[in-house]
Amino acid sequence: MRTVALYGTIAGCITAALVLFTTQGGPAFASHTYHRLQHPNAPPRPGRAGPQISHSQSHISLPKQAWKYEYKRDRRNSGLSEEQCSVAFPELYKEVDRAVAYRQKRGKISLEELDVGWRGDGIVRALIHDNQLYIIDAHGVSDPNHRPRSIATLHALNRAISSTSEVLPNIEFTFTDHDSALREGDGNHTTWGYSRLASQESVWLMPDFGFWGWPDVGLRSYAELQFFLDTIEDDFLDKFPKLVWRGSLNVGSGHDAREGLLKHSADQPWSDVQTLDWSNQTDIDQNLLSMQEHCDYMFTAQTEGNTYSGRLKYLLNCHSVLLSHSMQFVEHFHHLLHSSGPKQNYVKLKRDFSDLPHTIESLGKPAKLLDTRRIADNALHTFRERYLTPAAEACYWRALIRGWASVQGFKPQVWEDSGEMAADRRSGRKIQRKMRGAPFESYVVMEAVEWDVPSKPRKLWKLEATWKQASASSASTSASANFILLSALAPEAHI
Ligand SMILES: *[C@@H]1O[C@H](CO)[C@@H](O)[C@H](O)[C@H]1NC(C)=O
Ligand SMILES: *[C@@H]1O[C@H](CO)[C@@H](O)[C@H](O)[C@H]1NC(C)=O
Repeated sequence: MRTVALYGTIAGCITAALVLFTTQGGPAFASHTYHRLQHPNAPPRPGRAGPQISHSQSHISLPKQAWKYEYKRDRRNSGLSEEQCSVAFPELYKEVDRAVAYRQKRGKISLEELDVGWRGDGIVRALIHDNQLYIIDAHGVSDPNHRPRSIATLHALNRAISSTSEVLPNIEFTFTDHDSALREGDGNHTTWGYSRLASQESVWLMPDFGFWGWPDVGLRSYAELQFFLDTIEDDFLDKFPKLVWRGSLNVGSGHDAREGLLKHSADQPWSDVQTLDWSNQTDIDQNLLSMQEHCDYMFTAQTEGNTYSGRLKYLLNCHSVLLSHSMQFVEHFHHLLHSSGPKQNYVKLKRDFSDLPHTIESLGKPAKLLDTRRIADNALHTFRERYLTPAAEACYWRALIRGWASVQGFKPQVWEDSGEMAADRRSGRKIQRKMRGAPFESYVVMEAVEWDVPSKPRKLWKLEATWKQASASSASTSASANFILLSALAPEAHI
């Protein structure tokens, strides 16, 4: 039986800037500043001591010989400068600008708003100080649903922080790793979240955890998915001329849309739409498709799940035509979806999918296929090759940090108390000043904000036992074992 890498990927993301060289007496650390290789025509970047640039990405003037984004070269560069981010991804920051405008109207963010008590679980309070991430309070994130999400999000955020040589502002904030940042009745709490309803203006959207990876469902790394598709994806015209969808009906608010899709695709020659029964191993073995296998089809269907659907960003990576009902939940990139005009990059259907049959019959007509292909081309260029790259994700995180800072109504405190040095009366030794929380580097090893030194042996809660049980009761494939574990334990986690 294969062991599954459920415990998250250890970051390969820290761009250590230490240059080791040998002197007479042995190795020493160079004290000069390390400069990352820049593209030859890159505009000069502001140094660490340079003036702060406002969060807005839209008004930065560029030198004449402008740098240009190139997909193949830059897609995985998490360290693009702020100017390069604005050149490469000019339309990316709409949700940050919206959230900033909302706070400019409502008044600055207060420290009291960072209290995590309102959420119960799945919420993390954190601090960025001097380009270093600290976890202040990890609130109910150790169970199998929240644990991988919170860890993935912290890694993604830290990659964006540690890849830049620019000064980021000091901020303190909270994020929740729930499908929806706010529940009904949560009012207008201010936090970072993966999705929001249009009416939930107080939520600041961050990239969801699946942009790092979703190993629980077999998606080992977002960048790896993009590599697979770049390498093995068929030409649009060579794909199966069918509509593909797999999923469970056992979801929350998207249930009606999923039922509509099933109803209006039943028994159609163009349909490969199937429900999955996660409790039936035969069904999973026969019908589960990997994300890249979805891209073998000309047409993909998108439905909301509990709230937003975690697979949308993956499907948008296919050089295929995505058909979706109009969505209620917003993620940070949804404004880039266009359902008409020359920039059309998906096809919008009614929420009940009643217009699916005639739409797909029209899109699939041989005489129309080149027009249809243009929609897929637009999606490819807009999403996989630009706005949904790891490079864009890192740019978005930093814009979020800068945007938040611009309306932050307090100065984040780094020290636990007033920071006064004091002497221990008994020993006479100086008591060390203590910083709040735990640095990212420790947190991802210890998964705690405080621990004993030397540390005690730890067991990662009941996860191990539960996991063994789920694996033992299922057959060969790790992904389906994951699905069973998830469906048993984590109602939110259905893909
Ligand atoms: C949140 O709502 C309350 C009342 O419902 C209002 O007084 C307050 O200004 C709102 N806060 C923000 C930040 O929108
Ligand atoms: C399990 O799935 C298979 C394949 O889809 C199906 O033929 C079978 O009837 C299912 N069994 C149950 C108990 O639902």
